[in-house]
Amino acid sequence: MSKYPIIIFEGIEASGKTTNFKIAANYLKKRKKSFVKLREPGGSIFSEKIRKLILNKKLSLNNKTDLLLFYAGRSENFEKIIKKNYKKKIILIDRFTDSTIAYQHYGMKIDLKVIKMLNKFIIGNFNPNIVFLSTVNSKNLQKRLRNRSKLNRYDKFKIKFYNKVQNGYEIISRNKSKYIKINSNTNTINEVKKIIINKLEKLI
Ligand code: TMP
Repeated sequence: MSKYPIIIFEGIEASGKTTNFKIAANYLKKRKKSFVKLREPGGSIFSEKIRKLILNKKLSLNNKTDLLLFYAGRSENFEKIIKKNYKKKIILIDRFTDSTIAYQHYGMKIDLKVIKMLNKFIIGNFNPNIVFLSTVNSKNLQKRLRNRSKLNRYDKFKIKFYNKVQNGYEIISRNKSKYIKINSNTNTINEVKKIIINKLEKLI
């Protein structure tokens, strides 16, 4: 594996994904490793504008429009950030193509063939090395979403939708060693840190 792996963080809302992303970024910073970080939706300047559109709760966009917006943002990230840093720096991404498969296919029932075709078109054979997948149970998901002061358009689905998405992640990751699962219900924050740092130490 390259000295500069591509590391992805995935999981449904309130699963601890972004906290885990920050743990990894802080660790790399402390070790003075050369890395870039980005999030999806978002990332490049243009992609952050698209993020605002997608998550704006005043807008009502159909699922196909959302899919194309996610890919428009990804295309900019790929051309302007990822390609430039590939094999030169470690790349940390908060959500990537597995989010599209989990949310747009397993959650919204968009044909997987369409998503795979868009993947091929936009990112070719580019393939992340490792995916930290965070999970949360329905009870904690509901509790954590209730405690959020600001909810965006994607925080407002019914619990059934998030269950479908999480189940999608389970299918995507089943029996694949590149996925490191982190259960936010059963692991303490120190245990989570240990899992992430142990893996990063082996990777870099
Ligand atoms: P975030 O809150 O983790 O930044 O993500 C915003 C929402 O965007 C989250 O509900 C997941 C969703 N999303 C998709 O539905 N498809 C995608 O391809 C990506 C990258 C995110």
